[in-house]
Amino acid sequence: MHKIVFGIEELDELLTIVNSRKLFVVTDSSFPLLNIRERIDNIAVEKVSFSDFSPNPLFEDVCKGIELFKKEACDAILAVGGGSAIDVAKCIKLAVLAREGRDAIIPPLVLENVGIDGSRIPIIAIPTTAGTGSESTHNAVIYYKGEKQTVTNDGILPDWALLEPKVLNTLPVYQKKCTMMDALCQGIESWWSVNSTPDSREYAQQALRLIRENWRSYILENRPYAASKIMLAANFAGRAINISATTAAHAMSYKITSIYGLPHGHAVAVCLPELWDHMITHTGDCIDPRGEEYMAHIFGRISAELGAGSPVEAIERFRKIMDEMGLENPVSVNRSEELRQLAGSVNPIRLKNNPVMLSAETLYGLYDKIVKP
Ligand SMILES: NC(=O)c1ccc[n+]([C@@H]2O[C@H](COP(=O)([O-])OP(=O)(O)OC[C@H]3O[C@@H](n4cnc5c(N)ncnc54)[C@H](O)[C@@H]3O)[C@@H](O)[C@H]2O)c1
Repeated sequence: MHKIVFGIEELDELLTIVNSRKLFVVTDSSFPLLNIRERIDNIAVEKVSFSDFSPNPLFEDVCKGIELFKKEACDAILAVGGGSAIDVAKCIKLAVLAREGRDAIIPPLVLENVGIDGSRIPIIAIPTTAGTGSESTHNAVIYYKGEKQTVTNDGILPDWALLEPKVLNTLPVYQKKCTMMDALCQGIESWWSVNSTPDSREYAQQALRLIRENWRSYILENRPYAASKIMLAANFAGRAINISATTAAHAMSYKITSIYGLPHGHAVAVCLPELWDHMITHTGDCIDPRGEEYMAHIFGRISAELGAGSPVEAIERFRKIMDEMGLENPVSVNRSEELRQLAGSVNPIRLKNNPVMLSAETLYGLYDKIVKP
């Protein structure tokens, strides 16, 4: 069962429960900077470290981790890092436990829930960014042959998410902005997702409230109290998408990351306002079975939680936050080729979660607005 605990002091207790013989510690390149590093270095359990992967990890990176885990016969995982590190840890666990091994995390099996006994390799996840919520989701994102793949399996939901906001002290301010915008978009998208439930909507609302109340102090004033609230917000957003999944803004963002190199949260955040703008003017294309009126009601509730009187005002607020943080839209180099690639990149499965139907032509038009000439 997934549990959320607060404070690095809890790590000893969790390790006692896990009772590992040999712990596989997945960390990213920020590890030497982290103010909890000593605490991890001094864990009194035999450890094997793995950090040979990049942000937006590749399938090949994960394979190296699978080999090492197996060679060293580890029995539990501690993942300390951003969404990339936590996702690498989840993929390693899935591949080691699944009968198909590595093949379990490459197409076409990524979309199937390959049966694994997740309890055989417990994961403790300590996020060092406040954005993806990966510590509380059953998804992992990796890149295979240049394309983004989402691995979904209930068995890879970490057993424990340990939230320690002081790790955010070393996160560069641009990364803080990008990751927080990922959490904000996840909260908004989860709330309007056609798969939303009362629980996911409650989590999404908490995420939006915490971000609205604390984003300035977190980003502009670097206040520890605000950091703890944004870390919690990101976790709420993660719990929300773990139920509802994300929608078109996320689906549209991945190729923006590949073509323009924008970090994940920045890429999603440039897509969301154009998407929402389109949706409020095309409510007749609603595909949420709960209907157009329900969707309008949800748009109203999201707007209110963002402190706006209407969706139009909420979109303006969202754009203003982007402006204040200096997060700009990408600029095209070879415009027609890039727009063609972008419009052809969107995963139709994710579009089914979106409350408004989006045709290939619409997607092209949206990218035409998102990417500046
Ligand atoms: N599994 C999920 O549910 C889920 C959800 C959303 C996004 N994602 C995926 O997560 C990845 C993005 O994760 P992310 O936004 O957390 O970034 P990241 O993990 O890619 O890290 C970005 C950079 O920040 C550095 N960093 C991390 N924490 C730091 C700290 N405390 N101090 C200094 N530097 C630090 C890392 O070393 C890295 O260079 C993408 O691949 C995205 O697709 C996964």
